[in-house]
Amino acid sequence: MTTGSTKRRILTGDTPTGRLHLGHYVGSLENRIRLQDEYDCYFLLANMHAYTTRADKAAEIRRDTIEIVKDWLAAGIDPARATIVLQTEVPAIAELTWFFAMLVPFNRVMRNPTLKTEIESKGLGDTYSFGFPMYAVGQCADILAFRPDLVPVGEDQVAHIEMCREIARRFNQVYCGVDPHAEDAEHEKLGGVFPIPAPLIGRVGRLVGTDGNQKMSKSLDNAIFLSATPKQVKKKVGAIYPGQSRDPDQPGDPDINPVFQFADVFIKDEAFVAELKERYRKGDNLGDGHVKAYVIDAINELLEPMRARRAEFEKPGGDDLVMDVIRTGTRKANAVAEQTLAMAKERMGLNFGTRAEMLG
Ligand code: TRP
Repeated sequence: MTTGSTKRRILTGDTPTGRLHLGHYVGSLENRIRLQDEYDCYFLLANMHAYTTRADKAAEIRRDTIEIVKDWLAAGIDPARATIVLQTEVPAIAELTWFFAMLVPFNRVMRNPTLKTEIESKGLGDTYSFGFPMYAVGQCADILAFRPDLVPVGEDQVAHIEMCREIARRFNQVYCGVDPHAEDAEHEKLGGVFPIPAPLIGRVGRLVGTDGNQKMSKSLDNAIFLSATPKQVKKKVGAIYPGQSRDPDQPGDPDINPVFQFADVFIKDEAFVAELKERYRKGDNLGDGHVKAYVIDAINELLEPMRARRAEFEKPGGDDLVMDVIRTGTRKANAVAEQTLAMAKERMGLNFGTRAEMLG
């Protein structure tokens, strides 16, 4: 069974750990929304990965999984065009994870800088589960199960995509006879099962949080959520420290003021932002409150259509709509992932019988 689409494929996803914020939006989500027509898109709910650090929080993970779909749909992901996939209902991903785990040295996984950063930032110490580092291999299976060309992600995920590319090359070399010196772009033509997918990094690698210095993150309590009300946006932007103490008619430095980072990212009219910076530098009667007011307007302009779409899912029956989107998407995803798994197993000499025969 195939999906019948001749478009190139995208696979990306999020771990359901709570609501999405503006950092997620400019880091990756806006790319996904933009590319929905051009590509055959698969967006994965990495709920299995949530268990790697929260195995005892099943109810929370379930709630976060449903909430993240609402964030996606509100942000503009359209289930009529893109396929939403629930990881734990795609068994081929779990099977590929095993096979891939044998193609990467253990020490290579443990050197992955994204894992190291997470161990520190989440305070996992040295008692994290065996499954925690395993998720990095699992992520390679998430991606390769869909044989995509492109993986739109935030900057922090690049180390994972690099490992995925290494595993794809290795599989193609070991089981498909692809020459170790082959160009990445040639792998499939030369008989490899897997393409060597490329990351696509968002417009803003690292959005500052409302604390003005750290990266926006739910756990640092410096995030503006996509679900924020106008009042919450006003309060959060209003509380940003402008980096200096000044009067509206005294010269200031926009480069050390985090509010201007938000202005750069969210105010569409670049000439207007340049003019604001100029006035700020001169001390031309431009208070921090004024700059913030423009930023608040720009953020609300972005969030307003999301609020309208979200209202549909907040009505009674909203969760049922979400469940439908998950089931329909996952069924379509399984067709692709099963096909990939069958191709991979065939090359590995594991073509003992079809899934249908074996599950009888
Ligand atoms: N690890 C990613 C994150 O925390 C989520 C993820 C899981 C993912 N599987 C993926 C991203 C596959 C891209 C591709 O954000």
